[in-house]
Amino acid sequence: MAAELELGFELNGTAVRCGAEPHWTLLRVLRDGIGQTDVKYGCGEGVCGACTVLLDGTAVSSCLLFAPQVAGRRVETVAGLGSPEEMHPLQREFVERGGVQCGFCTPGMVLGGLEAVALDLCGSPEEIRHSLSGNICRCTGYRGIVESVAAYASLPPTDRG
Ligand code: FES
Ligand code: FES
Repeated sequence: MAAELELGFELNGTAVRCGAEPHWTLLRVLRDGIGQTDVKYGCGEGVCGACTVLLDGTAVSSCLLFAPQVAGRRVETVAGLGSPEEMHPLQREFVERGGVQCGFCTPGMVLGGLEAVALDLCGSPEEIRHSLSGNICRCTGYRGIVESVAAYASLPPTDRG
């Protein structure tokens, strides 16, 4: 049976179209409809931050948005920031400072950190922890993550990618 919706939006700078049902979440569209598996399924109910994407530049939980809500909008995932060969400066800080510990929380942490720095909410380790409080690391290894975001925040704006 054909999908009820023909959904079109921008994903990491490229226009995409995908069949979807109106009750599908953006997370389902991305992972099951498009194969964008760098977006992670954690809790499925808006608690863990693993499914974080940027929607028109704002960090959101993709498990809480329905497919029709993203029609015509701009979605960015961590894969759109950079590649292993050409990392975004924040990704590089995560790699160099031990912020990358597992594949589940890291994509959301990077995108959450990016938004926090853009909003100038990273003035101290405490403020970074508060800014990332919607992103949960199950192993509670927050130190490298906070240091990575702090190092990125200390870069001159022209070096932030
Ligand atoms: S999977 Fe969306 S917040 Fe946990
Ligand atoms: S490092 Fe990902 S859950 Fe702890």
